[in-house]
Amino acid sequence: MKQNNPIILAISAASGVIYGIKLLEFLLEHNFQVELIISSKAYYIIKHELGLEFCHNKEEIYTNIINFLKLEKEQINLQVWLDDELWANPASGSYKTQGMIIAPASMATIAAISSGLAENLITRTADVCLKEKRMLTVVPRETPLNSIHLENMLKLSKLGVNIVPPISGFYGKMKTLEDSINFITGKILDASNIENDLYERWHL
Ligand SMILES: Cc1cc2nc3c(=O)[nH]c(=O)nc-3n(C[C@H](O)[C@H](O)[C@H](O)COP(=O)(O)O)c2cc1C
Repeated sequence: MKQNNPIILAISAASGVIYGIKLLEFLLEHNFQVELIISSKAYYIIKHELGLEFCHNKEEIYTNIINFLKLEKEQINLQVWLDDELWANPASGSYKTQGMIIAPASMATIAAISSGLAENLITRTADVCLKEKRMLTVVPRETPLNSIHLENMLKLSKLGVNIVPPISGFYGKMKTLEDSINFITGKILDASNIENDLYERWHL
């Protein structure tokens, strides 16, 4: 995949926010231009699961993420948007992007996308990806799943959306949680057509 246009990465308010952060780290380290949208409802979960504190201020989010990932400001290409900035670049189809990854994707966000409710910047950007036929990968996080969740995901799948549940395979002989996170992050990138060697692939 070409790395000229930005890729949109969204983190919604579901458990497993580490997948979004791990993807961000990979993309920035591999010179992708990333536009990050974090659901304001995810701030609490991010603090609870990662100890990373966010308030509704994009300069602060930017600084806290850079510090958390221990990246040098000069080497990164990151734009942060708030979820209520509906005038942001990715909200328009005329703004070219490589597409979008939502990791983790809450059932609420998936429901909104599957019914065309583009009421925040995450769901609006996903709606743009669908109408412009751009790559859209969602990482649904809920268990167990009810029929509404499944129907919403089926609807998105039929529209060409990559549905990548964060479920580990065990053939890579993983030993740690880090191995499992890398495996899932690698599978998300695979589905999004982004080269990576984050996990050991099956071979005889
Ligand atoms: C600690 C916590 C964990 C949650 N985990 C999930 C989850 O894994 N999956 C999910 O669909 N919703 C989860 N929720 C509920 C969502 O946060 C809630 O539906 C929210 O409205 C989703 O907002 P968003 O999709 O706009 O980000 C969780 C809520 C909290 C407080």
